[in-house]
Amino acid sequence: MTGLPWYTSFAPEHGTLPPRAWTAASDAARLPLGGDWAFRLSPAADAADTAFTEPGFDAGGWRTVTVPGHWVLQGKDGEFGGPAYTNVVYPFPVDPPHVPDENPTGDHLRRFDLPDDWPAEGGAVLRFDGVESCAQVWLNGTELGWFKGSRLAHEFAVGELLRERDNVLAVRVHQWSSGSYLEDQDQWWLPGVFREVTLLHRPEGAVGDHFVHASYDHATGTGELRVDCDVPARVRVPELGLDLAAGESVRMPVEPWSAEVPRLYDGELTAGGERIGLRIGFRSVYVEDGVLKANGRRILFRGVNRHEFHPETGRTLDPETMRADVELMKRHHVNAVRTSHYPPHPAFLDLCDTYGLWVIDEGDLETHGFEELGWRGNPVDDERWTPALLDRAARLVERDKNHPSVVLWSLGNECGTGAGLTAMARWIHDRDPSRPVHYEGDRSCADVDVYSRMYPPHAEVAEIGRREDGGPAARRALPLVLCEYAHAMGNGPGGLDEYQRLFETYERCQGGFVWEWIDHGLVHPVHGFGYGGDFGEELHDGNFVCDGLLFPDRTPSPGLLAYKKVIEPVRIAPGERPGTVAVRNLHDVADLSAYAFRWEFLADGEVVAEGPLTVPPTAAGERTEAALPEPPAHAADAETLWTVRALLAAATPWAESGHEMAWGQWPVTGRRPLAQPSPARRPAVEDGRIVLGPAVLDARSGALVSLGGLAVSGFGLDVWRAPTDNDEGAPWQPDVRWGPLWRQLGLHRMRHRTDGVAPDGEGVTVRSRLAPAGRDFGLAVTYRWSGGGAAARLDVDVVPEGTWPVPLPRLGVRLGLPAALDRAVWYGGGPGEAYPDTRAAARLGRWESTVAGLQTPYVRPQENGARIDTRWLELSDGAGAGLRVAGEPSFWFTARRWTHAELDAAAHRPDLVPGDTLWLNLDHALHGIGSQSCGPGVLPEHRLDASPASFALSFAPLGRG
Ligand code: GAL
Repeated sequence: MTGLPWYTSFAPEHGTLPPRAWTAASDAARLPLGGDWAFRLSPAADAADTAFTEPGFDAGGWRTVTVPGHWVLQGKDGEFGGPAYTNVVYPFPVDPPHVPDENPTGDHLRRFDLPDDWPAEGGAVLRFDGVESCAQVWLNGTELGWFKGSRLAHEFAVGELLRERDNVLAVRVHQWSSGSYLEDQDQWWLPGVFREVTLLHRPEGAVGDHFVHASYDHATGTGELRVDCDVPARVRVPELGLDLAAGESVRMPVEPWSAEVPRLYDGELTAGGERIGLRIGFRSVYVEDGVLKANGRRILFRGVNRHEFHPETGRTLDPETMRADVELMKRHHVNAVRTSHYPPHPAFLDLCDTYGLWVIDEGDLETHGFEELGWRGNPVDDERWTPALLDRAARLVERDKNHPSVVLWSLGNECGTGAGLTAMARWIHDRDPSRPVHYEGDRSCADVDVYSRMYPPHAEVAEIGRREDGGPAARRALPLVLCEYAHAMGNGPGGLDEYQRLFETYERCQGGFVWEWIDHGLVHPVHGFGYGGDFGEELHDGNFVCDGLLFPDRTPSPGLLAYKKVIEPVRIAPGERPGTVAVRNLHDVADLSAYAFRWEFLADGEVVAEGPLTVPPTAAGERTEAALPEPPAHAADAETLWTVRALLAAATPWAESGHEMAWGQWPVTGRRPLAQPSPARRPAVEDGRIVLGPAVLDARSGALVSLGGLAVSGFGLDVWRAPTDNDEGAPWQPDVRWGPLWRQLGLHRMRHRTDGVAPDGEGVTVRSRLAPAGRDFGLAVTYRWSGGGAAARLDVDVVPEGTWPVPLPRLGVRLGLPAALDRAVWYGGGPGEAYPDTRAAARLGRWESTVAGLQTPYVRPQENGARIDTRWLELSDGAGAGLRVAGEPSFWFTARRWTHAELDAAAHRPDLVPGDTLWLNLDHALHGIGSQSCGPGVLPEHRLDASPASFALSFAPLGRG
């Protein structure tokens, strides 16, 4: 063979039309070509001939796939191969631009008739919105050309070739192409025609391309509009009384567009009998005095990174799913999206325009796998690739340039550095000077307009915020954006609150984008949701693909609820004067008129009274105080709290009226101490048992064996937890990774020794020691049981011995109870899971749940489900019998039907099978979560170092006698 086959050439395309603006709103005829297509899969690029492209070809023996769709997610029992997940490494030898012979190739065939009303005059264009990784296209036996660039739109002019009846559209797709070297994003490799294929009628003289320039001058409150068009055309905006020629500028008073108030003006562009709907948002985004501003004001990104993902259809997203994403974001106060790491489906950007989200629109470009090779041969630094890079830049900008929501262009992700990136940045700056350019890999900031980082530790963000970070001069003048931070893999991310404080403290730190929006768990016949390695891949990166704020089925995880609380646009706290509440409006532009405020007064966790609260008008950025009513009557010794909530006063397009937008809670009177169970009694010792009211201990080991008639097993101090993904950390982390170290030191198999069981006149003292095998450090534990009436009190003292080289995962007691205790009611933090550095969304109240409901279903099972600040907990069976536990101070609890070891061993949700014991952990303290699965670890203040600790619990039977 001589020369490179087209799919491994450096060229990006052949025969396609120049890129242009995408619009859903043309009144020209269109024919969607989705649905069932005939399909044939071959193991290699040239294993089958191209006879199928000829009109007379009989595809009778072919299988069928749905277009849009990925063939690897279709067919029965993997007949079309399977998905494969790698993060950084290329799943083929790195020898650009070549690809292996094993190159799954999907031939797709679709016959179609033109609709009866298809206009006889004019031309037609065939558009592909996304094909991974490349396509060669024939219509009625004639080759139209080919293209690469999976998440980019490509069009062919086809007018001449169309027939009224029985058109044959043939598309050959190779899984691997030279383009694959540019698409090494951390995600599933999913070949196929995964976005729409559409035939578009093009009337004579119709618009080829158009560019809406709509800026806003905050000083005068005016907007300037100019719509450029490649053919003579007229622009009408009835609401503004505008009727002007394309290319003409006009300035007039307007309301600006922002993510908070996404004001759009409907207009139209007409040329050659075609009418295109325009949705115009006037806004200006620029860096001024080192700060990123929109319409004259600093903006703060409360963002997420969004990959396109659906657990059944991969990167093929239906309109409802896109809308669900946007509505979920808005409901959780997310105001910005980075379209990591490629331009999204174009309809998604329409939704961002409509609902209001700031968008960093990213090019379909990542060459991360070259990092493993010391960046040798990196395509972004090899001029043979520059045309392909410029093609990607142009196809990003041209398609999406008319969306007001798009405020920054991003060259791509994790490509190292190189002249190709500089060329892209130049091209973009020249084509669209109205938007700043972003690229995280450019630490010199020579090509970009914002300084972007991923996963910097808090301390470094503060340093950058103070402008003490040095660096090149070009960079010192730029605002900081964290294009990725807070890695939401499994339980976590921890530390969100501390980041947010920095964004609110330092003008230069303009927020960030949590990594990432959704877990990419794919539906699996055995594992529920599968991740890397579950589909037979030789090379994979496991569950690193499940690191989102949503579970794969789009249920919000506790991480999203914590993020919502941390970024709430209104902050509610006790006022400076007694009896008042302080309300800070953290919006960029909106006042508080959309909110209805309500107060609640709680006594021992129960709402005793509530009512509306009048909050004076408060502009964006302002703070106000409002008077609370007199505290209502309540039991004299109750612990009391105020809760003040801000609710939506009326429905919005994304939430119902009454949707909670913000809350604050603070104590009025504190908690009374845990009662000493009285009267203290001398324990009874008989038959090897010690009986102390409801508690029965084993006289030899001192272990609790029953409580109020309920059998207890496995009692004792517990320091272990099934490590979270953030405990495990990422292999490339420079810092210590506690998860692996805990295991190495044997914290998962601690040994207990009883040193003495001593009943006395008022109780029993059990002295013991807990330590890992082979180590000389441990914990001396004293359990002191007292009481003897209806309740038993347990005082625990823990003293570390030797030198502990690691923090403790947890510190508390564990006990096994009958599984019939299936209902939990507690007064404490809730309703959801919370850990020391993920606790933002937990508020005090009375909560209840089934035991199953206490579990957080992380795709890879791990420590989860702790409830914070618990004053008391009641566990009961269907008949109301059970156990009440109270704590001093408050405690954390987890309750599950499997052990830590079982949780630790499980790789997928279905591996966890409820046993006949309810394992209850009552913790005095827990180690934080952090973000070390990719980012920084647990902050020092959330670390649980081994140190002397004392806590008390009381136990009483429920519902008996
Ligand atoms: C970043 C990368 C993302 C993702 C993340 C870890 O470095 O840009 O694509 O891999 O790390 O989940």
